[in-house]
Amino acid sequence: MTKPHVFVTRQLPQATLEPLAAICNLEVWEDHLPPPYSLIAEKAKTLEGLLCLLTDKIDANLIDNAPNLKVISNMAVGYDNIDVPSATQRGIPVGNTPGVLTETSADFAFALLMAVARRIPEAQQYVKDGQWQTWHPTILSGQDIYGATLGIIGLGRIGQAVARRAKGFGMKIIYHGGSNEAVANELGAQKVELDELLQQSDFVSLNLPLTEKTHHFISTRELQLMKPTAILVNTARGGVLDSKALYQALKNNTILAAGLDVFDPEPIPMDDPLLTLDNCVIVPHIASASVATRTKMAEMAVKNVIAGITGQTLPTCVNSGVYES
Ligand code: GLV
Repeated sequence: MTKPHVFVTRQLPQATLEPLAAICNLEVWEDHLPPPYSLIAEKAKTLEGLLCLLTDKIDANLIDNAPNLKVISNMAVGYDNIDVPSATQRGIPVGNTPGVLTETSADFAFALLMAVARRIPEAQQYVKDGQWQTWHPTILSGQDIYGATLGIIGLGRIGQAVARRAKGFGMKIIYHGGSNEAVANELGAQKVELDELLQQSDFVSLNLPLTEKTHHFISTRELQLMKPTAILVNTARGGVLDSKALYQALKNNTILAAGLDVFDPEPIPMDDPLLTLDNCVIVPHIASASVATRTKMAEMAVKNVIAGITGQTLPTCVNSGVYES
């Protein structure tokens, strides 16, 4: 019997692929950069399983031309890179990797918030540039975190984990979108309208998924509502924030500073003006990047592929409706 054809769009920790290699005809894209869309689409014509990353666009055209495809497994919790309705229409389950990255991502969101607030990247550059001559009463002064108000937009799994950290720092927590009241009460988080959140927060953390509705959720109007001392942190998806509006807001001191782990597009083009600003800290989409968590994500993504190609229900499926018909 021929083994099912499975394509993995990037090298994963080798041990995580072994259970998959044992049962299928496994092809792994070895390059550091993503495979071109046309290559994935061509392969998809004969694939039964596809394990992809958030950098791979899996659209309706690709899905409609993959007659044998039984599973699309994304090694990420977010799945805005996949046309899920098309997959559902074709009865293809789509897997993701929720839960295992929650705490690691929240650690990072908080680390970024603190790095921006206390100007750590600037301070490091200052030292490396040989500018550290003495202790000085005013240089590199930042913003206090303890006692400040944190506005979380999207109090889902990761937003809640950010709130738990904020609680430990004695922050006041307000939120907009994405939680049930019992959870919010436990966290001491108060639900407010978006505009109120923007007006009251010293820090705003974006933790909402990217959908058609949340594209450019934060743009000029929203930035203008924020305090001139406010700091914005985006560890969600680049598309939820209008980066041109952010540049204007940072340059004109509408807000104080920003920390971005995500961008639209990724990678950020090297001529993007945000890269010229000291008050914008930009890192390359690494919120979930701890060794342990990335390994767990790979294991989960592999389990979803194995389930898909062997006719089992995916352990973590984003369109479980496919099993109802
Ligand atoms: C990372 O951004 C993820 O969605 O897992």
